[in-house]
Amino acid sequence: MSVIRSFLANNAISEGKKVKALVTGGAGFIGSNIANKLLEMGFSVRILDDLSSGYRSNVPEKAEFIEGSVVDGDVTKEAAAGVDYIFHLAASVGNKRAIDNPISDATINVLGTLNVLEAARATGVKKLVYSSSAGIFGELKTIPIKEDHPRDPDSPYGVSKLAAEKDCLAYMKLYGIPVVCLRYFNVFGVHQRFDAYGNVIPIFADRILKGIPITIFGDGEQTRDFVNAKDVAQANIKSALSEATGVFNIGSASRITINHLAELMMKVSEASVEIEYEPERSGDVRDSLADVSQARDAFGFEPSSDIEAGLKDYMSWIGTDPITRGRLGL
Ligand SMILES: NC(=O)c1ccc[n+]([C@@H]2O[C@H](COP(=O)([O-])OP(=O)(O)OC[C@H]3O[C@@H](n4cnc5c(N)ncnc54)[C@H](O)[C@@H]3O)[C@@H](O)[C@H]2O)c1
Repeated sequence: MSVIRSFLANNAISEGKKVKALVTGGAGFIGSNIANKLLEMGFSVRILDDLSSGYRSNVPEKAEFIEGSVVDGDVTKEAAAGVDYIFHLAASVGNKRAIDNPISDATINVLGTLNVLEAARATGVKKLVYSSSAGIFGELKTIPIKEDHPRDPDSPYGVSKLAAEKDCLAYMKLYGIPVVCLRYFNVFGVHQRFDAYGNVIPIFADRILKGIPITIFGDGEQTRDFVNAKDVAQANIKSALSEATGVFNIGSASRITINHLAELMMKVSEASVEIEYEPERSGDVRDSLADVSQARDAFGFEPSSDIEAGLKDYMSWIGTDPITRGRLGL
């Protein structure tokens, strides 16, 4: 029986006693996908988010919402009171944002995580799942990337995510808090919108919706491992409910070129825009691919292989998203 089905069959939800989860950063892209999945499974969900990059409208109606920052230790402790599981996603996200604001990056990502760990310790949670990033690896030396690939981050973001990972592991040793750190590769899916520090999929989506050319840096034959946020939610929940602890890579275990990504996004949207090529950007990695065998063995992680279906769902969602349409003047 799968971990999730056996959880549903055995846990206290059926006896009317709900299992409680805190999702920090639950108004954000990935956090809201996790919160929705938890609610669907019958958990009671509380969200702590300061709405700095998240949206109030991402918060599911059935979730309890606390507007506040993980940098505030008291608020974080209140938010964690009485919960069984913590999914910690609140963060300053991305290399460019961290290069522009290194102090707030470290404050939110490192001190914020320490506050979450202190809160987890005070509450005595069954598991803390920390959202880490493939950004901790820095320059990629070998692919597929296994967990023991050298960790040599080349931006303050990678450094802060790695420091927070190490703090989580240290708290597990010191205080016996069971911890899982999940290192995501390129996540995409519903609730991912364009922002100034945006990822390639929302940027291409904007251009397709507007009917203007897509820009690709380099020859477009560079590859990335795009993992659906639904699979990331699955990894969070399965790892929380399993006996697993430690660090795990989370990707789709497949990769596509940026040229193919652009083609697929146009195909699923039944639209066609021009592609313009610009010189390669320095620091961009050529190829990226996660080895997810450890997550598969430890908690039965099974990423979906159908990127085209995932992109179709994404384009239908973003095409009707009022926030995106308003911003684009559609
Ligand atoms: N999107 C990706 O491809 C990706 C890849 C690797 C790792 N991650 C990690 O996944 C997590 C979620 O990222 P996302 O892509 O959903 O980004 P996001 O910006 O949509 O979500 C982050 C959320 O945290 C909230 N937040 C920020 N600072 C906060 C604070 N001080 N207190 C409380 N809430 C705060 C934001 O308002 C937002 O809702 C992050 O920890 C990020 O490092 C994301």
